[in-house]
Amino acid sequence: MTDNDKTAEALISQQAVDSFNASSSPRYQQIMQSLVKHLHAFVSEVELTEAEWFEGIRFLTDTGHTCDGLVRQEFILLSDTLGVSMLVDAINHRHSNSATETTVFGPFYIDGMPDRSYGENMALTDGMPALVRGRVLDTQGRPLVNAVLDVWQTAENGMYSGQDTEQPFGNLRGRYRTDSDGCFAIRTIVPVCYPIPTDGPVGRMLRAANRHAWRPAHLHFMIDVPGYRKLVTHLFNSDDPYLESDAVFGVKGSLQVTYQDRPAHAADAGGLDMPLPFKSAYYDFVMEAE
Ligand code: BEZ
Ligand code: FE
Repeated sequence: MTDNDKTAEALISQQAVDSFNASSSPRYQQIMQSLVKHLHAFVSEVELTEAEWFEGIRFLTDTGHTCDGLVRQEFILLSDTLGVSMLVDAINHRHSNSATETTVFGPFYIDGMPDRSYGENMALTDGMPALVRGRVLDTQGRPLVNAVLDVWQTAENGMYSGQDTEQPFGNLRGRYRTDSDGCFAIRTIVPVCYPIPTDGPVGRMLRAANRHAWRPAHLHFMIDVPGYRKLVTHLFNSDDPYLESDAVFGVKGSLQVTYQDRPAHAADAGGLDMPLPFKSAYYDFVMEAE
């Protein structure tokens, strides 16, 4: 490459950055100029060929075509598997020290799932019965009453209802509330590890990189209390083999629970009607004031 080539390439990059100089929003200008600068630096660094550029366009086009506006969101999956979702999460939750840690939202949340009473069973398909209990607290340890816990997990086949159209509506999903002591109780099944979808462009990327697609077993929570920051997190099974190699980098040590055997005493279910044997886990969530 001659000095003339270098100057011409740098000029193209500078012109593209400068084309955002007149943006009406300073934040938009900052984001777009930084994006263009880093994108050009990447193209220059790897000296992208025309065939590779076209392959990139094809990959992004396929990613868009693999979104259905309901439960399949391949762009979120791409962000998750590139570690971008967890980086955005980390940047946006730097200051919460005593509050419960956050993790990826993922692409499988569905709004408007059934309201469920204290201890109601949300599992309409088979699995090891589990009772997940705990409290929702503020950072001073005071119970938060009537907190809404939107909960979702996969069935034993590793698929979410909605994603797997064979599952009954609302299976392993629901909106629970805390009682007057800030306590919640969810009757469900023990979560299982599962692979993220690999039948689209993200799957092609994982295979090309010799990466596996597995997420460690977890239960998703989105907890909402007026006046507090919405908490999006998971509880991971502490004995899962994929804790160290989550396909989307979402595991945090503080978000692990152990499902204990509860073989003998119905009293362990705190008066709730659980089939025996079952497993039980306990976790207190701590919410940060807005
Ligand atoms: C999930 O846990 O549902 C999930 C998160 C990121 C990517 C795929 C799935
Ligand atoms: Fe999940």
